[in-house]
Amino acid sequence: MLLSKSLGVNKEGNLTIGGADTVALAKSFGTPLYVFDEGLIVENMRAYKDVLDSYEGGGLACYASKAFSCKEMARLAMREGMGLDVVSGGELYTAKSVDFPLFDICYHGNNKSISELEEAVDLGVGRIIADSAEELKIINGIAARYNKKQKVFLRITPGIEAHTHEFIQTGQEDSKFGVTLSDGSAYKALGEALKYDNIEIIGLHCHIGSQIFETEPFERAAEIMIEFMAKLANELGLRLSELDLGGGFGIKYIESDKPLPYKTYMQKTVDAIKAACEKFDFPKPFLLVEPGRSIVGAAGITLYEVGAIKNIEGIRKYVSIDGGMGDNPRYIMYQADYTALLAHKPYDDADDTVTICGKCCESGDIIIKDAKIPVAKRGDILAVLSTGAYNYSMASNYNRLPRPAAVMVRDGVPRVIIKRETYSDIVRNDI
Ligand code: LLP
Repeated sequence: MLLSKSLGVNKEGNLTIGGADTVALAKSFGTPLYVFDEGLIVENMRAYKDVLDSYEGGGLACYASKAFSCKEMARLAMREGMGLDVVSGGELYTAKSVDFPLFDICYHGNNKSISELEEAVDLGVGRIIADSAEELKIINGIAARYNKKQKVFLRITPGIEAHTHEFIQTGQEDSKFGVTLSDGSAYKALGEALKYDNIEIIGLHCHIGSQIFETEPFERAAEIMIEFMAKLANELGLRLSELDLGGGFGIKYIESDKPLPYKTYMQKTVDAIKAACEKFDFPKPFLLVEPGRSIVGAAGITLYEVGAIKNIEGIRKYVSIDGGMGDNPRYIMYQADYTALLAHKPYDDADDTVTICGKCCESGDIIIKDAKIPVAKRGDILAVLSTGAYNYSMASNYNRLPRPAAVMVRDGVPRVIIKRETYSDIVRNDI
């Protein structure tokens, strides 16, 4: 069950990622260790770009940096001609620190601070996604003070409930994000904003959720958004030229997850846009998408060393690893499922059922409940697969555990892209 094409097995019988031996990586860089395959990240980036490049309306795929934000990912996205989705001053700072073209940045957030907005306007961020009628007004005021005309989008909640964990659904009406379409709020907000002199409303945005496998919710979102854009043009004379459909395509965490190839998701979305444009007699908009998890999720794994093992006869066997909820909080937050392998015998029969748990002072500190792995012993290297997205980016220092290092592998050669935290990093801000 190797799950992703980044993974393989070498002649020593060890698990490899991007051609690098995971047992050797653990030895050289220590554990816990996040490891990424650059080749697969780039391939995923190109899948989106290729479909958009062949779409008549033109488009830009923006990497949703919240999935895994660091300088090297911003550099990679830049090299591959992607835009970037940022959602905070910190993510913007990361982009800025590698001279990411600010024009290709989409700036999100349901409660951006005034200073975050001022910075974005001042720096010349290409697209600010306003989350409310009030924010349109605030951005207009800031742009006036900077003597600029800021390009903005309005984020819409289209009323779509996608099948995914409740905490990562965002398209439904009961959401803290965006302006409701169905009760006329979005129409009213845009009508009002037409009188503002210092913003140019260029498009609409929606993001229906994350880890979604079906194509139908994306197709429906595309149709709903185009219908609304046509209505705005016909009734308010507001001609929007861009549409941003957010991210959300699902990845494989466990064998039963069956994501489609990203090109297929993207093509179906583009086809739905074209059909909707035809139906509502609307010109094909410039299309933006914001994939995060699907770019980086399956291209990353985490390596741990096995430590204490506790077998409670007839109840449960716990296998503890040297990390846990600090580097991967997704079980405790969403009861997320993962697949684990032993790095030195990835193909051995997985005939032991164990709960892989972390070292934090917390019973819910679990990485995988009832995982099937070969019998593990202290000192073994355990690889947890598909941890590239929302692991490092959501990591914490709970129990004052230093955050692990991250290594990027290209053609079998690893390089550190994020250093391991030290104890002095842990007390850095303590007075
Ligand atoms: N665009 C917007 C506006 C978003 O809010 C998100 C994700 C994305 C794009 C990227 O979505 P993706 O392609 O990665 O599904 N922490 C959760 C996921 C939260 C997603 C938040 N927004 C998890 O670990 O599953």
